[in-house]
Amino acid sequence: MNDKTLLNVKSTRRQVLGGAAVAAGVAAAGTFVPTRFAIGAQANVKIGFLLPYSGTYAALGHNITDAFKMRVAELGNKLAGRGVEYVMLDSEAAPPKAKDNTARLILKDKCDVLVGPVHSGVAMAMAQVARDEGTLTIVANAGADNITREMCAPNIFRSSFSNWQSTYPCGSVMLKDGIKDAVTITWNYPAGKQMMQGFKDSFLPGGGKIVKEILIDFPSVEFQAHLTEIAALKPGAVFTFFAGGGALKFINDYAAAGLQGKIPLYGAGFLTDGVYQKAGAAANGIKTTLHYSDALDTPKNRAFRQNFESNAKRPADVYAVQGYDAAEMLRVGLEATKGDLGAQDKVVAAIEKATIESPRGNFTISKAHNPVQDIYLREIVNGEEKVLGVAHKALADPATGCKMA
Ligand code: BEZ
Repeated sequence: MNDKTLLNVKSTRRQVLGGAAVAAGVAAAGTFVPTRFAIGAQANVKIGFLLPYSGTYAALGHNITDAFKMRVAELGNKLAGRGVEYVMLDSEAAPPKAKDNTARLILKDKCDVLVGPVHSGVAMAMAQVARDEGTLTIVANAGADNITREMCAPNIFRSSFSNWQSTYPCGSVMLKDGIKDAVTITWNYPAGKQMMQGFKDSFLPGGGKIVKEILIDFPSVEFQAHLTEIAALKPGAVFTFFAGGGALKFINDYAAAGLQGKIPLYGAGFLTDGVYQKAGAAANGIKTTLHYSDALDTPKNRAFRQNFESNAKRPADVYAVQGYDAAEMLRVGLEATKGDLGAQDKVVAAIEKATIESPRGNFTISKAHNPVQDIYLREIVNGEEKVLGVAHKALADPATGCKMA
């Protein structure tokens, strides 16, 4: 963290503490003691969700939240014997608001643990504050490579993926499918750019060529002109990352532009996750790589999907899995200290050496605190997701530049 960033974080801390004090009317300023230090192991664990509950990523935030709560409910609404309470804050997938929002959850709402976010830009700002404050944080979606590379920190874990991890295997898949050149199209922010880089890291060394790289402002869904250009370029394939509402629009527009079945569409699995059911026939033929598939035929995944659907009244997806596993990681950490979050070194050590039993299949945690996990190749066939195989077994992010303090 450079001096300027540090100053920003410190001043956010002052603003938030100042705001909290005024709001509380603080006659008792002299007796203020932060909850997490004052109350013993039996106080509730307060979880702060910083997730999108509005905008193009709203469905993702809701699935993470509901599945996290579902895992805690399975544990009798307790973590290591402690009750659990939640604060839900809408991140709006807005990086400029992320530092203040994170500081608010830690300093004003006195959350013991943070869970979130979805958006990579939000994650980078959130991680700076969480690292400075030493608050245990589980990133339950955002793939920003930086979080488990040069920004890695002892108190920050990820239950999801790195952006690179989600797409690196797809370059080799496409080469095996005989694709020689591709157009890439994605949103112009760290997730999009890092996922395209992951893809290029395997596609280019294997002899593939990139015809054109298209970047669109986040969260714009103005795809039409770009699809017209792609039709004229006639690449061997299109490779993409979009997610949530934007992904659904892209799939529908791709089909409406007459490209479905003519130019094969590949991408990070977020393109179809949580949206292929709504896209219907327009999603047929899309091939993606991801660390989860709805179609994994294991007792763990079947039970998870059934429980989630009967609780939430909508199907589970990768985001729900990541929320569920974030709660499981927290359970593992807290049980090691009988619920004492103050013994953070022991909580961290327990999560580091755990094997997490997940609906995606078991995974371990790398030294940089990112899942080491299988990446599946999936295809939408007749409106349903099929697993074609494991595109890369036990893939670890390179973790370049990670030095744990
Ligand atoms: C991201 O910003 O990291 C992201 C958002 C949605 C799906 C996957 C990644």
